[in-house]
Amino acid sequence: LAVQDLAGQVVLVTAGPTREPYDPARFLSNRSSGKMGYALARTAFRRGAEVILVSGPTHLSPPAGVRLVQVSTARQMHEAVLTHYQEASVIVKAAAVSDFRSADEYREKIKKDQGAPVLRLEPNPDILLELGTLRDPRQQLLVGFAAESSNFEQEGRRKLAKKNLDLIAVNDIGSAHCGFETDANRLILIDNDGVTELPHTSKMRSADLLWDHIVGNGLLRERP
Ligand code: C5P
Repeated sequence: LAVQDLAGQVVLVTAGPTREPYDPARFLSNRSSGKMGYALARTAFRRGAEVILVSGPTHLSPPAGVRLVQVSTARQMHEAVLTHYQEASVIVKAAAVSDFRSADEYREKIKKDQGAPVLRLEPNPDILLELGTLRDPRQQLLVGFAAESSNFEQEGRRKLAKKNLDLIAVNDIGSAHCGFETDANRLILIDNDGVTELPHTSKMRSADLLWDHIVGNGLLRERP
């Protein structure tokens, strides 16, 4: 049995990509596999937390013991997170939310003989940015992720401040053996106390090291 150092905590994790449909057959999405978020949910449960996993479409099986809330679009993820965030004492946003959706959703499948359509995009809500203003910092720890290919520290610090986060985990999507779709990752943790570079390792171990960092640095909130 793992150390129960997250006992009493309610952890809300978002994972996976979102899908933004523009006709009945097609959608805009991204390369997120959901593996990092599922690893965070699985390890948090093993360490004693109650876990709510809000997940976009993935090929992964739901981790034992977690409450799975399945969504598809960014707007559905937004709604699910707003429904559940107040129950949480730790919120980790590992999902790769599509920044844009199609402004039009065609009811019929677009035919190629109609000529190339022009897709107009409109922005999705930035769920994490909104949580940064809504959450109670005394009750809820807010952790973001950022997928970057360069300027890791600078981009991490910028998002930490902009989104009012306690901690941000920057992952390197620029090198071949990290980030999207792979089982491994190299996380750089940035908070107001400094920068911690985690080793290149499995996403499961990366998740455990992230929890170790949170517990070890006394970042968890007191539960009433
Ligand atoms: O600004 P950027 O998208 O790089 O920030 C990444 C972080 O913001 C991730 O934690 C991601 O889950 C979150 N995010 C979000 N809603 C969006 C875009 C990003 O919650 N629309």
